[in-house]
Amino acid sequence: MNTNNCGTRKIAIIPGDGIGIDVTNEATRVMELLNCSCSLGLELAHFDFGAEKYLATGISLPKEQLEDFRNNYAAIFLGALGDPRIPDMFHARDILFGMRFGLDQYVNMRPVKLFDEKLCPLKGKSVDDVNFVVFRENTEGLYVGAGGFFKKGTKDEVAIQESVNTYKGVERIIRYAFEYAKNHGLTKVTMSDKHNALRYEGDLWQRVFNQMGEDYPNIEKEHWFIDALAMQMIKKPEQFQVIVTNNMFGDIITDIGAQLQGGLGMAASGNINPSGVCMFEPVHGSTPKYAGKNVANPFGAILTVGLMLEHLGYIKEAELIEGAVKRAVRENKTTQDLGGTLGTKEAGDYICKVLSELMQKGK
Ligand code: IPM
Ligand code: MN
Repeated sequence: MNTNNCGTRKIAIIPGDGIGIDVTNEATRVMELLNCSCSLGLELAHFDFGAEKYLATGISLPKEQLEDFRNNYAAIFLGALGDPRIPDMFHARDILFGMRFGLDQYVNMRPVKLFDEKLCPLKGKSVDDVNFVVFRENTEGLYVGAGGFFKKGTKDEVAIQESVNTYKGVERIIRYAFEYAKNHGLTKVTMSDKHNALRYEGDLWQRVFNQMGEDYPNIEKEHWFIDALAMQMIKKPEQFQVIVTNNMFGDIITDIGAQLQGGLGMAASGNINPSGVCMFEPVHGSTPKYAGKNVANPFGAILTVGLMLEHLGYIKEAELIEGAVKRAVRENKTTQDLGGTLGTKEAGDYICKVLSELMQKGK
């Protein structure tokens, strides 16, 4: 873990754009509260990378900054990126992929966990039925930007987007999924691909998964084609414990997963480099139409703080956050997307109040 010289651990906070700013305000208050009350020794540093800065200066994420994150920070918290004034999302890709690829955060961890059955759109599913984690490969596949245009703008135009899968890349994400299952007492890992149609990448994923599976005799190995997996997530989510898949498929199925837990507003994620600096972000985007209106659900961002603290070793504090969000949901102290009447800030206030109570009780 990277630490700086003072013995404190630096956390970079990048609110970004749109509702990323609203939810990061609340997430930051939660960080500050726990940092102070539990003496975590975190030093929060704020960065203004995002659309506003890009439009004013042309700067997205400078190389030196990435270097600084790599060498001097324990973790990065990102709100969201995306702004209608930059329709090609150039700055968003530059900043987001700059960190994911540049810091080699090859694991995108996205827990799908239902906190209260009233949030689940499926009939008759309890909190035990929706509780699994998706490991999305985060540095390869269709996302590497390999391809190009030919005769762009003409009727003969060709657009090619290639999926890049390396042995090393596939190996390390599947290994991470198996190790996670083993270390968390889980009994099954599901790998999903589309090897009935995508022969080359499918073949590599299959071979690595089957070979590596032999190292984990006590873990059940399961495979679904990605289209069938999407269906099974709705039909019988209780069958899943750990799912591992590629970048594109992981992107799609984690939005399905988010709905199972109450919507995108509830979903947290970690972009993990197991031996480097990690970046944590709620799964929802910048949703410009709700920006600055005090309506965005801050729970996804707050739960993301929990994931970050857990990753940094603050297990008790991560549990406190989960407990506080569960209680807020149970008591309908939520924003409108979850059926409540609170604004972003008021929902954040409530979490801080419950956290203070829980910490008081724990003393
Ligand atoms: C996500 C988002 C990003 C992705 C977009 C904003 C590029 O959808 O983190 O899931 O596709 O990875
Ligand atoms: Mn997505």
